Amino acid sequence: MGMKDDEVELFLRTPHNATRLSRKWYFLVGVVVGLITSFSAFAGVYLVFFDQVNSQFQSCSSQDHNSVTKTPVIDVASSQCDISKGSDRSDCWPEYRDATQSSCEARGCCWSPGVEQGAPYCYYPRNFDRSYMLTFSQKTSTGVIGHLERTTKSPYPNDSMTLQLEISEETSDRLHIKIYDPSTSRYEVPIELNKEQSGGGSYEEFDIKLARNPFGIIIRRMSTGQILFDTTGVSPLIFADQYLQIGTALTTSNVYGFGEHRSGFKLDTNWKKMVFWNRDQPPEPNLNLYGAHPLYLNMDEQHNAHGVFLLNSNAMEVDFQPFNGTGAVTYRALGGILDFYIFLGPTPDKVVQQYTSLVGRPYLPPFWSLGFQMCKYGYNSAEELKKVIARNRAAKMPYDVQWNDIDYMKDHLDWTYDNMTYPGLPDIVADLHNNSQRYVIIVDPGISVTQQPGTYPSYDEGIKDDIFVKADNGSNLVGKVWPGLTVFPDFFHPNSSAWWYRQAKMYHDQVPYDGLWVDMNEPSNFVTGSITGCTSNSLDNPPFVPPTIDGSSLMAGTLCPSAKHSLSTHYNLHNMYGLSEMKVTSSVLKKLLNKRSIVLSRSTYPSAGVYGSHWLGDNLSSWVDLYYSIPGILNFQMFGIPFVGVDICGFRGDTNAELCTRWMQVGAFYPFMRNHNSGKKDQDPASFDANTQAIMRSVLETRYRLLPLLYTLLYRSHVDGGPVARPLLFQYPEAVAVDKQFLWGSALLISPVLEQGAVTVQAYIPGDVWYDYYNMSQVSTVGQSVLLDAPIDKINLHVRGGSVIPTKPAAVTTDQMRGEMFALLVALDGNGTASGEVFWDDGETLDTVENNQYSLVTFSVQSNTLSNRVVASNYTHGVETSLSGVTVLGVPAKPGSVTVNGKGAAFTYDDKSRVLTIASLTVDLLQPLSIKW
Ligand code: GLC
Repeated sequence: MGMKDDEVELFLRTPHNATRLSRKWYFLVGVVVGLITSFSAFAGVYLVFFDQVNSQFQSCSSQDHNSVTKTPVIDVASSQCDISKGSDRSDCWPEYRDATQSSCEARGCCWSPGVEQGAPYCYYPRNFDRSYMLTFSQKTSTGVIGHLERTTKSPYPNDSMTLQLEISEETSDRLHIKIYDPSTSRYEVPIELNKEQSGGGSYEEFDIKLARNPFGIIIRRMSTGQILFDTTGVSPLIFADQYLQIGTALTTSNVYGFGEHRSGFKLDTNWKKMVFWNRDQPPEPNLNLYGAHPLYLNMDEQHNAHGVFLLNSNAMEVDFQPFNGTGAVTYRALGGILDFYIFLGPTPDKVVQQYTSLVGRPYLPPFWSLGFQMCKYGYNSAEELKKVIARNRAAKMPYDVQWNDIDYMKDHLDWTYDNMTYPGLPDIVADLHNNSQRYVIIVDPGISVTQQPGTYPSYDEGIKDDIFVKADNGSNLVGKVWPGLTVFPDFFHPNSSAWWYRQAKMYHDQVPYDGLWVDMNEPSNFVTGSITGCTSNSLDNPPFVPPTIDGSSLMAGTLCPSAKHSLSTHYNLHNMYGLSEMKVTSSVLKKLLNKRSIVLSRSTYPSAGVYGSHWLGDNLSSWVDLYYSIPGILNFQMFGIPFVGVDICGFRGDTNAELCTRWMQVGAFYPFMRNHNSGKKDQDPASFDANTQAIMRSVLETRYRLLPLLYTLLYRSHVDGGPVARPLLFQYPEAVAVDKQFLWGSALLISPVLEQGAVTVQAYIPGDVWYDYYNMSQVSTVGQSVLLDAPIDKINLHVRGGSVIPTKPAAVTTDQMRGEMFALLVALDGNGTASGEVFWDDGETLDTVENNQYSLVTFSVQSNTLSNRVVASNYTHGVETSLSGVTVLGVPAKPGSVTVNGKGAAFTYDDKSRVLTIASLTVDLLQPLSIKW
């Protein structure tokens, strides 16, 4: 829609005539008065109030009971509907169907079909006056509280006629906006939030302006004047029992996040809807997929970023419109409350850190799980599994973890294996362990109800403990998954954890697995709702349902929304089911193994990264799926789940040698690297011809060599909460839409081939010093897109000048390579400086960071000297924590001599590439180090 509040539009965005100037003056006075009155109360936030109808700004007094003239409901004047730009029309009929001129106008909205494609026919007029008014406000020590009232009903049943508003600056870099109904207790998302913790952002000042009538919020970053959040011009606020609507303008259309969906990294704000309702659905654009992450990151023209997170787990849609050239987003949630957190950045990394400081820092995975992992749905027998393990070992593939999919189970029953097809499975696991390899199994939530009583403890004990999800009528809800008819554990139930532990332990006593893969946990159900359908109540049939893949059904492919968990209804908790299983499974594994492990979950929700990792589900063996893997992985970095990957070479359909080679090359740089397949054709590296094997082995070795860097980045993410694989945008803000390349930390640029037959790649090389990873010479053309050679055996990698990268020699398992010394790859920047760090611990003890059982060494290079600083040295291990050599890139001339801790050392220097190599050292990294050249 256009502006419902011209007044705001007038002075904030187009101050170019006398009236507007005078309003601007009012505004400045307001800010100054606000500054004086508010500053003493709490630094950083300034408050200004205004009335959108007469544009009067008033500074905030400590108590503010202005009586507001209630605007009578009037016919919409045609001038209010004169919003010629379709892009500025906010949708007044999000239901799609059944809109007619008369029904639209009955909502107080305007009807005008046939503008730009995508623009709504039925849209809100300017100054839409059937929403809330601010009737009371009061400053608090950290912000403001207010009362909102509406006098007319919204089109949805059970409006909350009075609302409570709370805005507070919770930390120096985070703002919280909460709008709820004080007269009734409503569902709120039950995740633990670290309210006290700041995200490590610098101190940011912002002002809050509140519009009285209709009510609106404007949040502005003081340092730049940029408005970050502005609800005044988009869709009006609605707060009905099953329909909560609020919109905000964006700073630019450079907006990212909002998972889990398949899209390019930069989102399309041109009339796109995104639905949040977790679903077992192979990834395709425009569909609701496995997880829900209502977080976006927005980058403004000045390259400052902020993040907006709506903590709401109900079914939801976000609706983008091109609005005012910059874009706007409207949220429509089916329950809960409006609970926004705004992260002030101002860098994208800071936004992610601030987000994870609130929802929880990502866990630190065990070192072995950084190795290469293999899986197939359909080995179908112990013989086949053994064959695959043997041929990859024989081919000397770096290979750490073997997985088993549901075909190991007896009749697809969790915590069983099939003695006929998988006889001797425990011996296979023992053999893996004897070869320093690990074993991970799948378990699905659906527990079979059709086994003979007394033969299947997972069901019998679950019934005894009464921990299954209930249908609306109180009986256990029965659905259908792989094993046939099943019930579904209520992982929110306080007794579910002990029950799950007993099952996990009983099976682990037979088959000692090292990690768990929790799949189908949207939860997936092969019948609609339950075998007996769902109810006709308003949870199963809400007045508004966003366009889910099954034509606006919340029950398709999952449980009835009316189903009951111990905490609340499935309607409220559905999007958190996977998270609840991850949380319980992670605590079960800690207790069982007393070591760090892996929980790989298909369904995720905010805070999932605290408990485990994610892969992007049932992709296709296709080139386009290879491309989409990159934006997908980058998205989950923002969602605080950095340890993420996709099924390498593709899950559905058959791969081929070229696609699989290119995919192994990209996959070598996914933080979590697993090749998984359901196609007929094998796709483990050793299943290909010798030449293909050699290429795959080589890129696996490159990954393994770089694992100390990856591990250090995962450590950083665990403590600081930032991303591991980084979009170029995060470091080079001009790279707004680059999503065919990515970075590891700030050191390594990965530019893969994503097209069939290509032997070159067009890559953006940012304006910085870069070195080719392979020939180690400096790249001459930077700051532009460059055509790089990329024969089938090469993935382009570049090291950023200014980095120090820790490495270890590659080996066939991570256990083996742990025992080798470190080497450092130093890439000098234009000033001859560089820095980096390495984190190291025993790789699997629980909480090594929290218990100070690790070593951390930082490196810096200045004036031809590499020195270290030992930040922590609590994991000491002679060889493991020693240094064997240093390679320095970008040394302008051959040094006369090299000394290591004062003693002369041998070196070589390559005039052409300008690489200095100092090898054959054995130096303790945990002691002061000085290498001069
Ligand atoms: C689901 C999973 C897939 C798995 C299959 C069988 O489709 O996403 O990875 O192989 O189920 O368990």
